[in-house]
Amino acid sequence: MSQYIKAQKALLEKPRTWLITGVAGFIGSNLLETLLGLDQRVVGLDNFATGHRHNLDKVCAAVSEEQWNRFTFHESDIRRPQDCAEAVAGVDFVLHQAALGSVPRSINDPFNTNETNSTGFLNMLIAARDAEVKRFVYAASSSTYGDHPGLPKKEDLIGKPLSPYAVTKYVNELYADVFAKTYGIETIGLRYFNVFGPRQDPKGAYAAVIPRWIEELYRGTSCRINGDGETSRDFCYIDNTVQMNILAATSLNAEATNQVYNVAVGNRTTLNELYHEIRDRMVKVDSRIADSAPEYGDFRPGDVRHSLADISKAVTLLGYDPTHNLQQGLDVTTAWFINQFKAADTN
Ligand SMILES: NC(=O)c1ccc[n+]([C@@H]2O[C@H](COP(=O)([O-])OP(=O)(O)OC[C@H]3O[C@@H](n4cnc5c(N)ncnc54)[C@H](O)[C@@H]3O)[C@@H](O)[C@H]2O)c1
Repeated sequence: MSQYIKAQKALLEKPRTWLITGVAGFIGSNLLETLLGLDQRVVGLDNFATGHRHNLDKVCAAVSEEQWNRFTFHESDIRRPQDCAEAVAGVDFVLHQAALGSVPRSINDPFNTNETNSTGFLNMLIAARDAEVKRFVYAASSSTYGDHPGLPKKEDLIGKPLSPYAVTKYVNELYADVFAKTYGIETIGLRYFNVFGPRQDPKGAYAAVIPRWIEELYRGTSCRINGDGETSRDFCYIDNTVQMNILAATSLNAEATNQVYNVAVGNRTTLNELYHEIRDRMVKVDSRIADSAPEYGDFRPGDVRHSLADISKAVTLLGYDPTHNLQQGLDVTTAWFINQFKAADTN
């Protein structure tokens, strides 16, 4: 039996109380759906800076009424210490996801990125320490590898950050490490590599590439590739990310705590390849999409050129076993978005 199945069984037998910060966002709402589906008690915190109430509505529709009643929502802000303390009271595990994502946003607005991602993180860490939670699992980022040229990326070899966003995510790791050593709180950082899946926001200037391209192809507008399209990423389907959060929170392996882990699949895909993977799936909506071609623009400042994870640390210490590769994840994701767009178009 896989470690993840064992962990889920143990949670069903003995439900716990979880705090998900950023619960109305893409990753947070997917964590919420899985945990409520496992009959857990969940507290959620979000200020709707980039998350949406409709993400919570979709989770409500996906779980039973009894499961939904185990969810308590705080519309509050991690930049306020009191909000963090109120949300974390009585919680076993924290899954800290709240942050302002996006490298370009951080270049345009380093101050607010720092307020939420660094100060907000510190507020949550202090609150979790004071509430004596069992474990503090947090969203770190592959951007921490910065300018280190080595591939695949191994957790202990990082370079210098290439953006304010990457600085904040590295600061998170430094604080978590110091808090573990100084106050004895258990932490695990998850360096996500380009997560994608249902409920990721396709709209706005800082939208991630997969939902944005799915929507653009659906609407018949052209997709833009920053650079020559040979930039590569290790795209990670959301179910793998949810699995890693649950494994990280519940692992009984003493060696596994106070560490950071890559969360990815261990495969590299260029943006040109990604475009074709998505276009091939969108052709089912309208055969004319087969003729569409991307536009090429400038490289984006702050972007790393290639990203590929070595996932062996997570496999060895946490029993991570990704269930979806890029193709499997895209099958589910494109089908989900097409359904959403069609439903919205008929309303
Ligand atoms: N999606 C990815 O590919 C990826 C990659 C690396 C790291 N991450 C990290 O994963 C986490 C979740 O990302 P996501 O893709 O779900 O993004 P998201 O924007 O969908 O979710 C972030 C959530 O945090 C909330 N939030 C922001 N500021 C807040 C504040 N001050 N107080 C309370 N809530 C606040 C937002 O409203 C939103 O609901 C973030 O920490 C992000 O940096 C994501």
